[in-house]
Amino acid sequence: MKIIALYSIKGGVGKTATAVNLAYEASKERQTLLWDWDPQASATFYLRIKPEIKGKTSNIITKKSYYQKNIKATDFPRFDLLPADFLLRDLDFMLSEMKYSKKDLKKKLTGIFNDYEYVFIDSPPSASVLSKYLLYISDIVLIPLIPTVLSLRTYNMLKSEIADKKSRNKIFTFFSMVDKRKKMHNVIMEDIRKNEDNLLDVAIPYSAVTEKMGVERVPVQVIEPKSTASSAYNKLWKALFESEILK
Ligand SMILES: Nc1ncnc2c1ncn2[C@@H]1O[C@H](COP(=O)(O)OP(=O)(O)O)[C@@H](O)[C@H]1O
Ligand SMILES: [Mg+2]
Repeated sequence: MKIIALYSIKGGVGKTATAVNLAYEASKERQTLLWDWDPQASATFYLRIKPEIKGKTSNIITKKSYYQKNIKATDFPRFDLLPADFLLRDLDFMLSEMKYSKKDLKKKLTGIFNDYEYVFIDSPPSASVLSKYLLYISDIVLIPLIPTVLSLRTYNMLKSEIADKKSRNKIFTFFSMVDKRKKMHNVIMEDIRKNEDNLLDVAIPYSAVTEKMGVERVPVQVIEPKSTASSAYNKLWKALFESEILK
């Protein structure tokens, strides 16, 4: 079981769209779970599942029954979802009050998610207790990077300030919402290619079909399997799948 988290301090960078589409790619061959950590529940919405979880707030994260009661099958084979609901707005607090250490939590999750080959986490934009846990429990933390000067700055800050040395080598990035007609996007991507070690060199294009996910409520590969966006998500999954870290 490998945990792959989509993470960024920023909102609106393509975390949720990527989490859903990547999980869909992974589920074509392997048992996959998408765990929605965002109280706004966008991933849950995209997969047509009710944003609702059963159980006491305090049980969240630590009780096995929480997972058994709440994991739902999506419309796609091998693809399950652990939905979000508004309770998760307290996730930060829950984690800080929790008697489990990061290490205990990782061990527990490894047991609970035993049946899955891949667990994707879609996280809310934040830089708090949550990100520390996320960095610890994940095998890969994937940060979408829109090729602009400000996004690059945030990405570098995140790597140097939030992550400790050990978790820094799990942080991977890829290009999100790319407009190849924009000269600046191309210039910045070229620069990152030269300087960034943990780059999955895939550019997810800015595209209308990805925006349509909100209306159709299915992954882009289901809306338009032959689109550039669909093949970009497929390429991103292949790059991840073939990386040393997921072996
Ligand atoms: N590659 C893309 N091209 C065009 N629109 C996109 C793309 N990725 C995401 N979007 C749209 O941008 C908005 C924010 O994307 P989302 O994945 O929810 O970001 P985040 O989870 O980082 O907040 C959503 O309305 C989504 O439909
Ligand atoms: Mg999101």
